[in-house]
Amino acid sequence: MNRSKIQAIVLAAGTSSRFKSETPKLLFTLCGQEMILYPLKMLQQLDIPVTLVVGHKKELLKRIIEQHAFSSLTYSEQKHQLGTGDAVASTASSWHAEHILVLNGDAPLVQSSMVEELIKEHMKSNVAVSFTMTHNNDPISSAGYGRVVIRDEQTSIVEARHFTGDFAVDCFVNAGIYLFRREFLKRFISSLAKHPGSQEIYLTDLIEIASKQKLGVATVNAPFDQVRGVNTLKELWAAEQIKRAEIIDACMQQGVRFGSVQSTHIDCDVTIGAGTSIGAGVQLFAGTRIGKGCTIGAYSCIKNSTLGDHVTIQPHVVMSDATIGDLSAIGPFAHIHGNTTIGNESVIGNFVEVTKSSIAHRTRIKHLSYIGNAHIGSDVNIGAGTVTCNYNGVTKNTTIIEDRAFIGSNNSLIAPVTIEQHAMTGAGSVITETVPSHALAIARAQQVNKEGYARRLRDSITVVAAVKSKTQ
Ligand code: UD1
Ligand code: CA
Repeated sequence: MNRSKIQAIVLAAGTSSRFKSETPKLLFTLCGQEMILYPLKMLQQLDIPVTLVVGHKKELLKRIIEQHAFSSLTYSEQKHQLGTGDAVASTASSWHAEHILVLNGDAPLVQSSMVEELIKEHMKSNVAVSFTMTHNNDPISSAGYGRVVIRDEQTSIVEARHFTGDFAVDCFVNAGIYLFRREFLKRFISSLAKHPGSQEIYLTDLIEIASKQKLGVATVNAPFDQVRGVNTLKELWAAEQIKRAEIIDACMQQGVRFGSVQSTHIDCDVTIGAGTSIGAGVQLFAGTRIGKGCTIGAYSCIKNSTLGDHVTIQPHVVMSDATIGDLSAIGPFAHIHGNTTIGNESVIGNFVEVTKSSIAHRTRIKHLSYIGNAHIGSDVNIGAGTVTCNYNGVTKNTTIIEDRAFIGSNNSLIAPVTIEQHAMTGAGSVITETVPSHALAIARAQQVNKEGYARRLRDSITVVAAVKSKTQ
């Protein structure tokens, strides 16, 4: 197949009116990726250059697209959103290839194999236009789609709002993927007119024109689930379910076990190693890489993080932008974020927050601690309730805890401060100065025992209480 003969036009200028949102619908994410990126990445994979038609909120759209490296993408502006026919017409000056592939921007589930099949059919049948259609006789899910009407060897697409026929008879709908011979487009696109009912110019009217002119119309079939358009938040939800099922299916084939598929969410840019088990309600967001043989406990949310092999994430862990080494264990109820790195075989226990910190190997912070802007070495033990006091109201300061140090429970480490190798701190200490290697620092008030004082105190309180109750 000679791809150099094909260029694509992706329609993305629409006003998203049915979404009822300030943000253009094509910037809503589906499994963690903005909808518009799906057709663009698919066409890039097929090596087909793209003209993207933008209009409504075009700057927002461009800002997201430009964060990705698309090698052959150009923009074309549709000034007024007069319909899909007008959107394609507005790109006329960019037409150079022999065949023009047109795709709606709001069909994120379209696969490259479908486009390849359409191209193959178009080339084989040597027609003016080919398009993809899908069988759907469910009046609810097919509502809003153009109906493919074939009568007396004539093919046309009748938009839903104008269709008066029987759904059960005309039960194929238009997918919104077309391949036009450029010469045909050049000759007939200007003959499209506004529809009186909607005041829109429909690209789909070109099918009837090609058919009536006997210039040839070819069709290919695709499953409805792969061509679903997304016009409403409900349709976005439906499309996301399908994508998510595809992702989970692929993970299962790689040897990943799911406790509850129905309640698990996985974005498209996530990888999980074989032998890993994912609990109920887990959400794995874009950029997450999980190694082999890990356990991800129920209701944990992990975003843009890398986990080594055999990592245990207990239930209810929230993690973002973190790296966790092999055999480490996190949670339950831990919060790890801010580019934190944790080495191998370390343990971060319940109700521990770690941010902007590095922790080396075999270190244990097992209970109720806050670690921020800290560098902690290997084989360190941090007692329950330890807080790195990293913020003085103006600047963030660093705490350094070197290898094999031992921090007693309920310590406040006033940063900047260093606890050197093998040093220890007593429980309840407020550490403000360097603790030298092998030293023990105790920074708390000395305990004073006053013999018999508790009894005397209790007796005097009892007397006062008795006098008070008599006088009332
Ligand atoms: C369109 C088809 C319908 C098909 C359905 C498949 C038309 C007239 N109808 O309907 O037959 O079954 O797709 O999903 O084409 N857009 C522009 N400029 C505009 C209007 C729209 O760029 O002036 C873009 C939109 O951003 C969108 C795409 O074109 O990405 C399709 O437009 P939309 O309004 O969603 O068309 P549908 O009503 O879904
Ligand atoms: Ca649509």
